[in-house]
Parts: sequence; C-alpha cells; structure tokens
Amino acid sequence: MKTLIFLCILLLCLITHCTSCSPTTPRTKYNTSKYIRVSCRQTLYPKLCQRSLANYATKIKTSPKLLATTALLVTFNATRSTSKRLRELSVNRALKLKPGEIQALLECVEEVNDSVYELRKSIKELNDSRKGPEFELRMSDVQTWVSAALTDDDTCMDDFTTRGRVRVLVRRLVVRIARLTSIALAFINNYAAV
Ligand SMILES: *[C@@H]1O[C@H](CO)[C@@H](O)[C@H](O)[C@H]1NC(C)=O
Ligand SMILES: *[C@@H]1O[C@H](CO)[C@@H](O)[C@H](O)[C@H]1NC(C)=O
Ligand SMILES: *[C@@H]1O[C@H](CO)[C@@H](O)[C@H](O)[C@H]1NC(C)=O
Ligand SMILES: *[C@@H]1O[C@H](CO)[C@@H](O)[C@H](O)[C@H]1NC(C)=O
Repeated sequence: MKTLIFLCILLLCLITHCTSCSPTTPRTKYNTSKYIRVSCRQTLYPKLCQRSLANYATKIKTSPKLLATTALLVTFNATRSTSKRLRELSVNRALKLKPGEIQALLECVEEVNDSVYELRKSIKELNDSRKGPEFELRMSDVQTWVSAALTDDDTCMDDFTTRGRVRVLVRRLVVRIARLTSIALAFINNYAAV
C-alpha cells in the first residue's frame, strides 16, 4: 500500500514537473506566436521566416490569409529596398566597378524592379480575394505572379557572371529577397488550398 502511494506521488510529481517545464511556450529569439512558428517550420527557411514575421503576431493571429498577406508585404518592402540599394551600388564610384559589373548591376535592378511590380499586383489581388466563384482563379494568378518574381530574382544572379566582391554583395542581397519570396509563396499556396 505504501509503495502504491509512493508510486502515485512519484507519478504526480513527474506529471506536474513535466507540465511545468513542457515546451508549450518555448523561448525563442523572435517574438512570434505558436501559429507563426509552426507555419514557418513548413517553409524552406524557418529562421528567416520567424525573424521577418516577428512583431506581426498580433496582426496575423491564426489567419492563413493575413499570414500570406503579411509575408508578401514584408517581401515587397524588402524587394523594393533591394532595388534601391542595387541602384545606389551601380553609381557608387568608390567601388571602382568594371563596366561589366555596372552592366550586370543595372540588369539586376531591372529584374528586381519586375519582381517589385509582380509583388505589388499580388498583394492587391490577395487582399481583395474572398471565398467564392473567383477565388481559385485569383489565387492562381497570385501564384503565377509570385513565382515570376522568384524567377526574376534568380535571373538577376544568372546575369552576374563577373567575379569579385560586388558579386558576393549582390548575391547576398538577392538571395535574401528570393528566400522571403519563397516563404510568401509557401503561405499563399497554403491559403489557396484551405
Ligand atoms: C511580443 O509580442 C506581444 C504581442 O504579440 C507583445 O505584447 C509583447 O510586448 C512583445 N514583446 C516584445 C519583447 O517585443
Ligand atoms: C512596408 O513598408 C511600409 C512603408 O515603408 C510600412 O508602412 C509597412 O509597415 C511595411 N510593412 C511590412 C509588413 O513590413
Ligand atoms: C526601377 O524602379 C525604380 C523605382 O520605381 C526606378 O526609379 C528605376 O528607374 C527603375 N530601374 C529600372 C532599370 O527599371
Ligand atoms: C486591403 O483591403 C482593405 C479593404 O478590404 C483595405 O482597407 C486595405 O487598405 C487593403 N490593403 C492593401 C495592402 O491593399
């Protein structure tokens, strides 16, 4: 009998101990919600995803539409500033760029600009989307445009055939927006499927 009571108490202790230290709210570096963490884990870049959506948890709540729209807005903002940054690089005399590098940079600006355009259209379409007869068609447009934005980013790096540190810098900038675009696309696909 005593042993039984002892075992019961032990079990109770284990249970309470486990609930008090269970990872229901694991500490993370980013101020996100569980919904965002779980959603981000389904993308190719979970950390970037969490970092970029930190601070939008109250806005997103558990809405797949707001998750997709916010991810797209973040991507749009980042892509637009990258276009600006690339333009600045192309006229920066201190970098002593070779003509081929300037040419490649300007081509990149054009590609990234196209991407900005595709993303702007997508945000509007996604924001206007309502469940109904036109939903699938609208979502299919958004998927096409965001995929095109991703291709534009990739094309920019293809143009960049010269070696050197400016290529490394451009690559870092463009890879980041391509990853953000990929994350947004994952959330759009998810929203389109609900
Ligand atoms: C984290 O986000 C919550 C709302 O989602 C907010 O109340 C809190 O102040 C934020 N904490 C930090 C450290 O930003
Ligand atoms: C995007 O940029 C605009 C203007 O700079 C800003 O008001 C908005 O909060 C940004 N949105 C996101 C989701 O980053
Ligand atoms: C890219 O877009 C910016 C801002 O809209 C514009 O000023 C610039 O001329 C564009 N550049 C190219 C190469 O299309
Ligand atoms: C989204 O649509 C609402 C109206 O439904 C509008 O108030 C809001 O400004 C739109 N946001 C964007 C980013 O287009």
